[in-house]
Amino acid sequence: MQDQAEKLREIMKEQESVEPVLSPEAAGPGQKKTRIIAVASGKGGVGKTNMSINLALAYARLGKKVVVLDADLGLANVNVVLGVIPKYNLYHVIRKQKTKRDDNLDTDYGIRIEAGASGFSRIANLSEEERQHFIRELTELSAADVIIIDTSAGVSQNVLSFIRAADDAIIVTTPEPTAITDAYGIIKIISTELDDLDLGMSLIVNRAGSVTEAKKVAHRVINITGQFLNIKVDYLGFVFEDPAVPQAVRRQQPFLVADPRGKASTCIHHIVGRLEKVNYREGSGFGQFLRRLIGRGE
Ligand SMILES: Nc1ncnc2c1ncn2[C@@H]1O[C@H](COP(=O)(O)OP(=O)(O)OP(=O)(O)O)[C@@H](O)[C@H]1O
Ligand SMILES: [Mg+2]
Repeated sequence: MQDQAEKLREIMKEQESVEPVLSPEAAGPGQKKTRIIAVASGKGGVGKTNMSINLALAYARLGKKVVVLDADLGLANVNVVLGVIPKYNLYHVIRKQKTKRDDNLDTDYGIRIEAGASGFSRIANLSEEERQHFIRELTELSAADVIIIDTSAGVSQNVLSFIRAADDAIIVTTPEPTAITDAYGIIKIISTELDDLDLGMSLIVNRAGSVTEAKKVAHRVINITGQFLNIKVDYLGFVFEDPAVPQAVRRQQPFLVADPRGKASTCIHHIVGRLEKVNYREGSGFGQFLRRLIGRGE
């Protein structure tokens, strides 16, 4: 990853003079900045991909331009849930093996999917033309109001680097004891690995049987992290256990579309409403996100 990061740094340095959107000064007063939200969990299968997609959709319904970045280097989850099968990732886009329009999926639902953050880790040997193409990709990403990064479970360096670069990290857990323990585990690792931690960290309890159960789970996590790690984690909200979710997954539709007034969907709208109220890291934006991602400056 080191070579690639170096290459990306070079690209950005050259590009700054001609492409102001990637420089922090570009987002001047009154200009909107991209909000970057990483969705993570300790335990796998707790609902990150479903959260990411449906939060993105709910955001889009507020009139925001939203991109979901699939940072899972294993399976391209997002596309499976949305019913589009990815054959190519950002890297292939760069190599022009497929047209850009096909690859960066503008979904019927009004959100855009970037399939595969692996593109970031393979940029070492680009031709001039490919390099220009990549810059255009990044510039397009920077036009988004919100980028939601769906990560893989656990804490690989990949996941950590995305969390480090984001404005907010949303940790997803379920009421299962193992999921709770692992949620604490990932928060602990984030807080120790990222010592200059200044991102907003919050918690979603997914698959809750009741409001009370969700609150209990959230308070448990928040209390332990406060007590043992001296870290403030916000309770962002919960999503009910809802059979409409697996049903929608089977139909490869987001549950917000398959069951817009259902229990889970209503919860998602609440969460987005709350996210909109929560302050996030000052001075961020897409250029800043990229800098953090490749380890260059704050
Ligand atoms: N609120 C819910 N109610 C009922 N079932 C749910 C709910 N949320 C998630 N699920 C079930 O959990 C499964 C896994 O969800 P999802 O793929 O979003 O998890 P994930 O955290 O992204 O998994 P991975 O760690 O493998 O990426 C879904 O296919 C669905 O069946
Ligand atoms: Mg997933």
